[in-house]
Amino acid sequence: MGKINAAITGVGGYVPEYVLTNEEISTMVDTSDEWIMTRIGIKERRILKGELGSSELGAKAVIELLEKTNTKPEEVDLLICSTVTPDMQFPATANIISDKVGIKNAFSFDVNAGCSGFLFGMATGAKYVQSGMYKKVVVVGADKMSSIVDYTDRSVSPIFGDGAGAFLLEPTSEDFGIIDEILHTDGAGRKHLHQKAGGSVKPASHETVEAREHYIYQEGRQVFKSAVVGMAGVSVEMMKKHGLTNESIDWLVPHQANLRIIDATANRMELPKEKVMINIQKFGNTTAGTLPLLIWEWENKLKKGDNLIFSTFGAGFTWGAIYVKWAYNG
Ligand code: UT7
Repeated sequence: MGKINAAITGVGGYVPEYVLTNEEISTMVDTSDEWIMTRIGIKERRILKGELGSSELGAKAVIELLEKTNTKPEEVDLLICSTVTPDMQFPATANIISDKVGIKNAFSFDVNAGCSGFLFGMATGAKYVQSGMYKKVVVVGADKMSSIVDYTDRSVSPIFGDGAGAFLLEPTSEDFGIIDEILHTDGAGRKHLHQKAGGSVKPASHETVEAREHYIYQEGRQVFKSAVVGMAGVSVEMMKKHGLTNESIDWLVPHQANLRIIDATANRMELPKEKVMINIQKFGNTTAGTLPLLIWEWENKLKKGDNLIFSTFGAGFTWGAIYVKWAYNG
C-alpha cells in the first residue's frame, strides 16, 4: 500500500456578531485607537454575548464545515477541539461540540496548547489519517477569549477576540496535504503567560475572584520577544528543511497575535506582504481560532499545489510550523 497523506479538504468558520471597537475599549481603559493600531494592529474584534461558551462558536464552525463538504455528522471518525477557554473544566469541549452537531460515531478530545493549539490539533489529527486508521477527522479551534480577558487591564483587553474555525482532514494518495511539522514546547515560559487561579493549584475562592486571578496574566514584552524568536525561527527552519524559498512559498498563515510579530516573521522569511494572510485588524487574537479563520477567508484564493507555511507561538510556551501542500482549488 502506498503512502497515505492527510489533506485539508474543507474549512468552516464562525465569528459572533458583536463588534468591539477600539473606541469602545477606550471607554473602558486608558488607551486609544492610535496606540492599539500602532503597537498591535487591531481595529476591532468580535465578542460572543450571553451565557454561551466556546462550544457555541466551535459548533457553528463545524456545522458550516460539514455542509460545505457534504459530510454527514455520523461519517466523522474523530473530532479534536483546540481551546484554552473550554465551556467547563470537564467534560471536554470537543464532546459538547460533537453532541451539538450530531457527531455520534466518533471519539473526541480537547488539546490545550495556547495559541499553537490548532497547529498541535492539526498535527495530531493528521496522524490518525496518515496511519490509515480514520477517513474523516475534524479539527476545530474555538476560543471565547472574552471570558478570561480583564477589561480593566489595558495591556490585555485590546488584544483578544472570540471566534472559531474548523478543518476536515481526509486521506489522499496524492502528494498533497500536511507534509511536515516542527512543534515545540517550553514549560518554563509559563511564568510569563498564564491564568493564576481556577485550576487544581488554586481553585476558585472569594479571594481569587477579588484578586482578579481568573483572567489572563501576561508579561507582554517578554512574550513578544519570545514570539518573534520562536515563530520566525521555526518558519525559516521549515523553509530550509524543504528547500523552500520566498518564491516557492505561496502563503504564510501566521498566528494573529500582533502585527509586528507577523511582520518580523515574514521579514525573516523574506516574504512580500502579498503572500502573508492577515485579518488581525478585524478579529484580533482568537487564540485557537486564528489559523482556520485565515483559511476560511482566503479559501477562494487558494490553488491546488500551493505551498503554505502555518506558523504559531503561544502560551506554554508553545510554537511551531506546519508545511501544507494545498489539495484543492478554492
Ligand atoms: O498569542 C498569545 C501570545 N501573546 C502575544 O503574542 C502578545 C505579545 N506581546 C505584545 O503583543 C505586546 O507586548 C503588547 C501589545 C502586549 C504590549 O505592547 P508593547 O509595545 O510591548 O508595550 P509594553 O508592554 O512595553 O508597554 C509600553 C507602554 C507602557 O507604558 P510605560 O510603562 O512605558 O509608561 C504600558 O503601560 O505602553 C503602555 N501600554 C498602553 N498604553 C496605551 C500598555 N498597554 C497600553 C494600551 N494603551 N492599551
